[in-house]
Amino acid sequence: MENNILIVYKSVTGFTRKYAESAAAELGCHCVEQKNVSPLDVPNGGTLVFGGRLHAGKLDGLKQALSLYRNSQAQRLVVFATGASPAGFEDITREMWKNNLGPELLDSVPHFYLPAGLRYDGMGFADRLMMRALHGFMRRKKDKTEYELQLQRMIAGSYDISSPEYLTPLLRLLRNGA
Ligand SMILES: Cc1cc2nc3c(=O)[nH]c(=O)nc-3n(C[C@H](O)[C@H](O)[C@H](O)COP(=O)(O)O)c2cc1C
Repeated sequence: MENNILIVYKSVTGFTRKYAESAAAELGCHCVEQKNVSPLDVPNGGTLVFGGRLHAGKLDGLKQALSLYRNSQAQRLVVFATGASPAGFEDITREMWKNNLGPELLDSVPHFYLPAGLRYDGMGFADRLMMRALHGFMRRKKDKTEYELQLQRMIAGSYDISSPEYLTPLLRLLRNGA
């Protein structure tokens, strides 16, 4: 068992949990839900990995993950975000990380975006309402960018674009010197 890494995740509809569990199985380390973790669970001098979903551009649970990290004895923090956007929209992903991590964490915290999908049946009422509003807004919007056109088509229903291959860069980093 790899005891130098702990993966902590926050997941509502299961995509992030699945990625976190796959990564933990690959690395042979523990993975635990954010609501069940305390700073004492984080390995001394080790790596804390946090994974969460994107929620209207924000990485859900990041604030709590930063506070867990600061209260722990971990030496390194690595984060990953799952979302509905497909791979390949590098500019949008870069902007998202800039907004979430801010200038001081952007360079010091390795970060990865993992395309996942949407699962309407697992969402809460407020989330479903937000998605419906976003879909309506997208439909009415004029002069849509390629990203907006794709998003509008995709968010009409549930879909799963997750794939184990998206974990490769994260696993590579963690295997090399965690
Ligand atoms: C209200 C709402 C807002 C969302 N906002 C974004 C977003 O800004 N960017 C994105 O890529 N995905 C967005 N998503 C999609 C989720 O991030 C995606 O489904 C995620 O993988 C869910 O993770 P989970 O299954 O672990 O809860 C949003 C989903 C909901 C319900």
